[in-house]
Amino acid sequence: MLQQIILSENIKEELSNLCSAGYDRIFILADETTAALCLPQIMGCTALNEAGKIVIGSTDIHKNLDTLAKVWEALAFGGASRHSLLICLGGGMVTDLGGFAASTFKRGIRFINVPTTLLAMVDAAVGGKTGINFNGLKNEIGVFSESLAVIISTQFLRTLDKDNLRSGYAEMLKHALLQDKDMWSEHLNFNLACPDLGQLQEMVAQNIEVKSRIVREDPRERGLRKALNLGHTVGHAFESLALEKQQPVLHGYAVAWGLVGELFLSVKLKGFPQEKMRQTVSFINEYYGRFPFACKDYDRLYELMRHDKKNAGGTINFTLLSDVGNICLDCHAGKDLLYEMFDFVREG
Ligand code: GLY
Repeated sequence: MLQQIILSENIKEELSNLCSAGYDRIFILADETTAALCLPQIMGCTALNEAGKIVIGSTDIHKNLDTLAKVWEALAFGGASRHSLLICLGGGMVTDLGGFAASTFKRGIRFINVPTTLLAMVDAAVGGKTGINFNGLKNEIGVFSESLAVIISTQFLRTLDKDNLRSGYAEMLKHALLQDKDMWSEHLNFNLACPDLGQLQEMVAQNIEVKSRIVREDPRERGLRKALNLGHTVGHAFESLALEKQQPVLHGYAVAWGLVGELFLSVKLKGFPQEKMRQTVSFINEYYGRFPFACKDYDRLYELMRHDKKNAGGTINFTLLSDVGNICLDCHAGKDLLYEMFDFVREG
């Protein structure tokens, strides 16, 4: 079934329409933050008067088996059946965990994603990846399961803080690099210091189109969908190192720094144009600064990359580019070049 993407300024009306399909019970899953800030914005819609509310802890530390069990329990105690609906209201943690809870409860009930962060709008809530962290590993357990619909309402962007906005924007920059020169130029010319929300809304729609096209062609990540990992092999290592040092960074910041590293590798291995790399790197340096790390961290970063779950047969897998829009899947780089790449990310 194709995931319906609805862009709307009138979220209550969209929810009323979607909820009128004869569900016996409706539940809304929110985290502590979205329960306080976003839930009031959707309540008052008659279809949700009787909805059961399930509130879980905020942030990735709650994306685990305990929280998942609490959601299953709340559905069971609330009388959910196979004809019930779960609305996931939140960032990627809520849409990932909620989607997994819904897809496994009684072998699967319908769910709708209402992403409230830019990152979830352009990435997490779209494309059917659901799951939880397990055994210290991110998204280790999960299923591919598309929500019935994703409702994108940029009204939530108005209350989003600067860092979370920039975090989501890094995934947009990734989509633009994968797409074409026009989209890439538009994204590099966008003023992230003083964002025009109207323009951002149009760009969000364009980004969802890019991601949806890739997912439609390869929903199970056997080939083309690996393109969406651009910036993530290096980015995940930065994110994990920061976590180990107890100085966590937002996912999108790690992706932005990962893009710097992987564009460097693209120049060296695939002939990506130097000038386009320079322009992209200056944008990232301006809005994201630089990832704080030193030479003594290189060995650990290398180990973290070797253990990335995207690897196969013991080699580190990268998605690189030979130009903006020209994607090269399953690329490999030697250790010396990777250490040169770390130097470039620190100083380039
Ligand atoms: N976030 C990458 C993907 O959905 O495949």
